[in-house]
Amino acid sequence: MSNIILGIESSCDDTSAAVLGDGVLLSNVIASQDVHKAYGGVVPELASRAHELNIVPVVSEALSRASVKASDLTAIAFTRGPGLLGSLLVGTSFAKALGVSLGIPIIMVNHLQGHLLAGFVREEGKETRVPSFPYLCLLVSGGNSQIVRVDSPLSYTILGQTIDDAVGEAFDKCSKMMGLGYPGGPVIDRLAGQGDPLRFSFAKPRVPGLDYSFSGVKTSLLYFVRDELAKDPDFLEKNKADICASFQKTLIDILMDKLIKASRQTGIKEITAGGGVSANSGLRRRIKAEGAKRGWNTYLPEFKFTTDNAAMIAMAGYYRYLAGERTALDVAPVSRIADY
Ligand code: KG4
Repeated sequence: MSNIILGIESSCDDTSAAVLGDGVLLSNVIASQDVHKAYGGVVPELASRAHELNIVPVVSEALSRASVKASDLTAIAFTRGPGLLGSLLVGTSFAKALGVSLGIPIIMVNHLQGHLLAGFVREEGKETRVPSFPYLCLLVSGGNSQIVRVDSPLSYTILGQTIDDAVGEAFDKCSKMMGLGYPGGPVIDRLAGQGDPLRFSFAKPRVPGLDYSFSGVKTSLLYFVRDELAKDPDFLEKNKADICASFQKTLIDILMDKLIKASRQTGIKEITAGGGVSANSGLRRRIKAEGAKRGWNTYLPEFKFTTDNAAMIAMAGYYRYLAGERTALDVAPVSRIADY
């Protein structure tokens, strides 16, 4: 193997390390942080402390599963941002220290570019269908909702994005409000599978162009539940599957309307999705169904590459390494990145 890249991801509440050998995934280790469940959301200070505890064992495990020694590494790719500053600081500092001690380059990666390229992660012995450039990616996570045009592994254009909340936030906050737990997406997804998506309707936003808005639909659910509970205190318990199914359908309708519009406007029919919300079973079914109807070629990353993981960071870093990019040691993490 000529290029062995270690990827490090620590932008939020997952500490992850992965090893890529010539672009093929050799290992991908993720330590999730259960400590946040009790609080119904990620507590930044607890997240950075957990990253500090996890980073060394997670990297060691990734190297050992890949049967690679630290001295075999060619470069280290790490998430510079966007994300929680304290969390990013752990991964960034670790990458710098390891890079210096091994005398190898470090390469900063925008976390969102990792999600955009997640579909390119190849595993040994597995056939991977990858989109052709240019493609559109519906990038939907706890912090972002965007439609991005990807022209090459290094060239991206945001065609539309949320003007307020991210769609993952809508899942999480509404789940918390209904007492269903955190993270909300997987719980609502599971309950939605048992309910009637046409039973209730929630207000959809009217936002021009390809931008999104999710704060209105969240408020619409909040007021609906409040009013119904005033009439029947057991309303939520009796109807939670139908509420989840209807709410999830509304969010998917909003996402798909703009994705369809973006494909129509650009003429691009290579369609991918990324980010935690792209694990949603209803959304995945809809993308495939719309794709079949509209002649799209659709590519959905495997579940394990939809949420935060270092495999996608190593992949994005690998392309940057091949393009000759190297990051200076005075690099600092950033919580926000306005563009790519
Ligand atoms: O990409 P991600 O792991 O973290 C970042 O935000 O960067 O995404 C986390 C988000 C959370 O909001 C979570 O509720 C959502 O992804 N999520 C889902 C599902 N699995 C995770 N949302 C809907 N359906 C799911 N099955």
